Amino acid sequence: MSARTPCLLDGKTLAQKIRLQLKERIAHLQPKIGRPPGLSVLMVGDNPASAVYVRNKERACQQIGIVSKGKHFSADTSQQELESVIAELNKDEEVDGILVQLPLPNHLDTVSLLHTIHPDKDADGLHPVNLGKLVRGESGLRSCTPAGVMKLLAEYDLTLNGKKAVVVGRSILVGKPLALMLLEQNATVTIAHSRTQDLAAVCRDADILVAAVGKPEIITEDMVKPGAIVIDVGINRLENSQKQAKLVGDVAFDRVAEVAGYITPVPGGIGPMTVAMLLSNTVQSYSNYSK
Ligand SMILES: NC(=O)c1ccc[n+]([C@@H]2O[C@H](COP(=O)([O-])OP(=O)(O)OC[C@H]3O[C@@H](n4cnc5c(N)ncnc54)[C@H](OP(=O)(O)O)[C@@H]3O)[C@@H](O)[C@H]2O)c1
Repeated sequence: MSARTPCLLDGKTLAQKIRLQLKERIAHLQPKIGRPPGLSVLMVGDNPASAVYVRNKERACQQIGIVSKGKHFSADTSQQELESVIAELNKDEEVDGILVQLPLPNHLDTVSLLHTIHPDKDADGLHPVNLGKLVRGESGLRSCTPAGVMKLLAEYDLTLNGKKAVVVGRSILVGKPLALMLLEQNATVTIAHSRTQDLAAVCRDADILVAAVGKPEIITEDMVKPGAIVIDVGINRLENSQKQAKLVGDVAFDRVAEVAGYITPVPGGIGPMTVAMLLSNTVQSYSNYSK
């Protein structure tokens, strides 16, 4: 097979552009609303990967003028304590978005905690009201990672109408909402998962292939239709023999890049888009405040 150069879908650059637009929007809205937007990120325990994500989100907030009201709780914090903090934040007029950094320690009930966030402050778009609006095709706060994928596809004018899309992974965080968003854009959508038979054949049928699995390089070049759009949502931390950490996606990038028409890198693809969509959701809630 001859080597091809696919188009790189550059999430990092688009995320920077979106941040600048949001910064301008905040500067425009702030005199009218009389305060800056606020995002509260709740972190429980000391998961090192979560700590990095939370720091990135807080830094991104500060850069564009969102006040970051982070709260860090010890790993043994009770469900009741967290629910009462969320109840206070729901009432706090200076907080436009609330996000619970996942995963939570095992003794906590993630789903019921997410249900306690007011749907209008649901910066992660994971509340059943917002997921329900997505199912119905109504506007509302949308899950950040799938919304980031859709925004990146739109930036490159990649139309989905009538195309075959395969989403590998069916989590409520990524796979399911993304499948609905692709369907909304008139793609013919297949969702694959751990019980899918002959995953390679299912993937090879895709004009747009999205990997959201969490298994390093599970998608190889023989699973990709020549010229397909390949979106890698996966973030996997691997250590080399010198114990240095390296991030890899769910797609074997170098080999798949020889077959794909478009491909996202890891890092620099969907990761920064997810953060940009979190900021965008917060600013959307903030702008509703003035209405
Ligand atoms: N870029 C970002 O900002 C961002 C945001 C969120 C997540 N992520 C990354 O995206 C990945 C997926 O995250 P998630 O939260 O959706 O993970 P998850 O909840 O663990 O879901 C993984 C999905 O992959 C499926 N799966 C597992 N093994 C498979 C296999 N061998 N073949 C086909 N499907 C398989 C599972 O199927 P079953 O349902 O049958 O078990 C499940 O639906 C992770 O690497 C995560 O770190 C990145």
